[in-house]
Amino acid sequence: MNKSVLTLQHVDKKFGHGRTAVTALKDANFEVQAGQFVAIIGPSGSGKSTFLTIAAGLQTPTDGQVILNGQPLTHQSEKQRLAYRFNEIGFILQSSNLIPFLNVLEQFKLVDKMAHRKFQQDKAKELLSELALTEVQNAYPSELSGGERQRVAIARALYNDPSVILADEPTASLDTSRSIDVVKRLADEAHQHQKAIVMVTHDQRLIEDCDVVYQIEDGLLSRRD
Ligand SMILES: Nc1ncnc2c1ncn2[C@@H]1O[C@H](COP(=O)(O)OP(=O)(O)OP(=O)(O)O)[C@@H](O)[C@H]1O
Ligand SMILES: [Mg+2]
Repeated sequence: MNKSVLTLQHVDKKFGHGRTAVTALKDANFEVQAGQFVAIIGPSGSGKSTFLTIAAGLQTPTDGQVILNGQPLTHQSEKQRLAYRFNEIGFILQSSNLIPFLNVLEQFKLVDKMAHRKFQQDKAKELLSELALTEVQNAYPSELSGGERQRVAIARALYNDPSVILADEPTASLDTSRSIDVVKRLADEAHQHQKAIVMVTHDQRLIEDCDVVYQIEDGLLSRRD
């Protein structure tokens, strides 16, 4: 039996006021269950990043509800939301969000430090090897290629073992064969470890391994059959 991990109900997001107002999301309804890999596909400016940051609790909706594991996020305190974001959500940003003054391995150690637990060396090394990053484990973000930085961000999100992974164009800096590898890795994570994974992309070729596909255009989200 599957349960809904993350649900958005009637979510609107407006930016600005009056003539310059932009409605980035209009009555968005969405659901992802444990073990599902969901893609959201849409052109630039259609509202994909807005959707994902609202789902992650990084922005609040103008209207509507975000429900996580049965609890409305909007009803929680900022402290509860922070704890939730840290423990339950792995967020892979469109521009990889690595800490500039930490080398690759230290990026992982920081995650443990923030969670007050021991560095899991074997797990970190295994993920680095899977994502072809072993050779750059001591390099700093500025020394990495865009694709390497993106793969480190993906490895770091997997490392924290969250129940939900929200990935904003996780393959934007990768070539086609690496993109396919990364998407397969995310699909495996969903299917073998019962994670809920949402990937935003504008690349039609990457949605083959997805269980459900939504499309978004001008802030209107709809499920593809
Ligand atoms: N903080 C903001 N203030 C004002 N407008 C915003 C803000 N964030 C997003 N928008 C507007 O909302 C719309 C959707 O933006 P969003 O970044 O969600 O699109 P996207 O689908 O992620 O685009 P891309 O593929 O280029 O990353 C755009 O018109 C954008 O200009
Ligand atoms: Mg975006």
